[in-house]
Amino acid sequence: MKVVAIDGPAGSGKGTIASILSKKCNLVNIDTGATYRCVALACLRNNLTLEDKEEIIKLSGEIDIKIDLDNKVYLNGEDVTDEIRSKEVTNIVSPVSSIVEVRKNMVDLQRKMASNYDVVMEGRDITTVVFPNANYKFYLDASLEKRVERRIKQNKEKGIDMSYDEVYENIKARDYNDMHKEVGALKRTDEQIYIDSTNMPIEEVVNKFIEVIEGDKNES
Ligand code: DC
Repeated sequence: MKVVAIDGPAGSGKGTIASILSKKCNLVNIDTGATYRCVALACLRNNLTLEDKEEIIKLSGEIDIKIDLDNKVYLNGEDVTDEIRSKEVTNIVSPVSSIVEVRKNMVDLQRKMASNYDVVMEGRDITTVVFPNANYKFYLDASLEKRVERRIKQNKEKGIDMSYDEVYENIKARDYNDMHKEVGALKRTDEQIYIDSTNMPIEEVVNKFIEVIEGDKNES
């Protein structure tokens, strides 16, 4: 089993890169953020607020989350691929994902999803917690302004209506929250290969990843 692990902040391009790599390198693509987004959506549907910590933990252990090979996301059998990207989910997902017991449930699930496959897995704690022994560990970064710009473009394509200020404030708040979690915080380590994509076209970023993955193959 081969694991390509990619961590990085919101809007750094992890999703796009993972999707391209999965096709080019024949890997199953697992978007771990989608699992936390499913928990957040389930909270909204059950009228839970962030104060209802015990109920959120219970819910995270009971719901059924599946991601198929086309990256469609299912919550209790229902296709929620688009709904988990909504503004409402995006606004609460980071604090929901900070609950330690929720993380434990999602990490167990993510490891199960990856068993039996060669995978590319992206998130915030993949290189540090989920698969610290991954074959390849990357940290993909970009400036806050660039990430906001990219997210606004993506939102437009998906019909999500958020102003520049809303996206800016959301990403800034998530950066802080994601980097200061008690468990599973986004962090840089010496073992990761650091790539700053701020001024790089997507093809160049993909090539940097492939150089590492394929380069290693050529050496052995
Ligand atoms: O990658 P994303 O924006 O879809 O992730 C949504 C949220 O989930 C993000 O703000 C932090 C959290 N997350 C996490 O805590 N750990 C991961 N491995 C992936 C995402």
